[in-house]
Amino acid sequence: MSDSIKQIANQLNYPKGLLAGQGARVIVSDIDAAKASDVANKIRGNGGEAVAVPEDLLRDEYIKELVGKAAEFGGGKIHIIVNNASFTWDAVIHKDTIVALHATVPFKLVREAAPYFPTKDGEPRNIVNISSTSGLHGNAGQINYAMAKARVVGLTKTIAKEWGPGFGVRANTVAFGHIETRLTANKEARTFVEVDGQKIPLGIPEKQKKAGGVVPYVDIPLRRPGSTTEAVSAILAIASPLSSYISGQTISVTGGRNM
Ligand SMILES: NC(=O)c1ccc[n+]([C@@H]2O[C@H](COP(=O)([O-])OP(=O)(O)OC[C@H]3O[C@@H](n4cnc5c(N)ncnc54)[C@H](O)[C@@H]3O)[C@@H](O)[C@H]2O)c1
Repeated sequence: MSDSIKQIANQLNYPKGLLAGQGARVIVSDIDAAKASDVANKIRGNGGEAVAVPEDLLRDEYIKELVGKAAEFGGGKIHIIVNNASFTWDAVIHKDTIVALHATVPFKLVREAAPYFPTKDGEPRNIVNISSTSGLHGNAGQINYAMAKARVVGLTKTIAKEWGPGFGVRANTVAFGHIETRLTANKEARTFVEVDGQKIPLGIPEKQKKAGGVVPYVDIPLRRPGSTTEAVSAILAIASPLSSYISGQTISVTGGRNM
């Protein structure tokens, strides 16, 4: 982490996590139960409020359970949804699972949470859908992922148009470029997710990541990938009251790539 990012992180009370540091009660949802509990424990260990509700978002009953538990934890209210779950399984065509996880799951989650959103209590409500430069600009070899990530833009804009009037619900899309996470780790590190007993390798081959050869990350004006702190900061910024007049937008968090 650079010094300036550390400063921002400290100001934002990063040890609790960026959202919990600002007072959010966080429901951590992930198919990886150990990871979800670890995140929730870290937030609680640093004085924040969080609970892990791990499971597979591709299971409809879980979406119901997740929304129910979120509402319970929020004292009968839900104020923010971040539709973020993902893995990549690149192929020229097919692989419905990727479309289901990145487009149908966000739709189903928002539909399930609908009773908690267009409300008249005057409190801010936010949906943040996570997209990708692949969804906005296309990416050869990622037709399933790119199509699904494009769809959430339509979902976002429609929520903004339907639930903005009269209710003040804001919805925005945050589209990431290259952020350093498991998704973009070196493929050579050999991390996998398991789908129906099949091991799907994650990551990007190292050679491909530094596109440009002599000048690494030549397609990114800032010449580096983003950190997870920078990625979550963008989500916090768009969900916060400082962005209270921003709705229906797609915010690219890419270090300037794909201008
Ligand atoms: N990292 C990047 O460069 C990049 C670029 C563009 C967009 N994105 C998007 O950012 C978001 C976050 O991705 P990330 O890079 O942090 O990846 P990540 O792999 O670190 O996190 C994604 C999480 O989703 C969970 N998940 C996968 N399938 C699930 C399921 N069926 N049910 C519940 N949880 C499930 C995984 O266990 C994982 O913890 C994703 O929507 C991704 O598409 C990332």
